Amino acid sequence: MATDYGMQVVAPFSPLIIKATAPVSVVAGLNARADQILSGQDERRARDWSQHLSGNLTTEIRMTDVIRQIPDLTDFLYDVARTYTYRCENALLNYGNYSETEELKDKKLEIQIKEGWVNDMRAGDFNPVHYHQGCIYSCVLFLKIPDDYEAEFQADKHRQNSVGCLQFIDSRTAVGTRNLFMVKPVVGEFYLWPSWMLHCVYPFRGAGVRRSMSVNMALA
Ligand SMILES: [Fe+2]
Repeated sequence: MATDYGMQVVAPFSPLIIKATAPVSVVAGLNARADQILSGQDERRARDWSQHLSGNLTTEIRMTDVIRQIPDLTDFLYDVARTYTYRCENALLNYGNYSETEELKDKKLEIQIKEGWVNDMRAGDFNPVHYHQGCIYSCVLFLKIPDDYEAEFQADKHRQNSVGCLQFIDSRTAVGTRNLFMVKPVVGEFYLWPSWMLHCVYPFRGAGVRRSMSVNMALA
């Protein structure tokens, strides 16, 4: 008779990334507000956040107040971040000898929006490898991609397509795992990850704008 020897995979360390799809109304609302800000020189200048961020790109505008004032968006961010928190805690509880996680035992699991901004990238723009400080979660929501992006992506015949992609980097290599994870931008798609995780965005060459929102979040 076959035996499984009581084998189980014990995986308390794997950093998790959660993916979700934002409501269409959230994407439309953010795009409308960002377009409005970028069309006015004064507000555009007042919200310029490029000095605070690592990106080598056309436009980075601080949107923290705007993000906090869009109920559909804050509901979405809170829901996904809470689900991610529970999922991570469950992974620990299932695989380790924990009755509770030290990091979470004094928390109310209240999600706080620390900073949020919108990036517009044009041909040649890029975001070098970086991580986000002063928070525990970071996230991205893709808001616009250039009209000819898909054709440019498909024409990239290198070993791994990277045109306009977000890439996560976790340098520890293990059997069956990746240490690089490439994410192709799709409007409405959303990813949330531990803020310490290194990531970068590769350039594209075509005309048009690649727009994304990023938000740093904490737990109280
Ligand atoms: Fe980032």
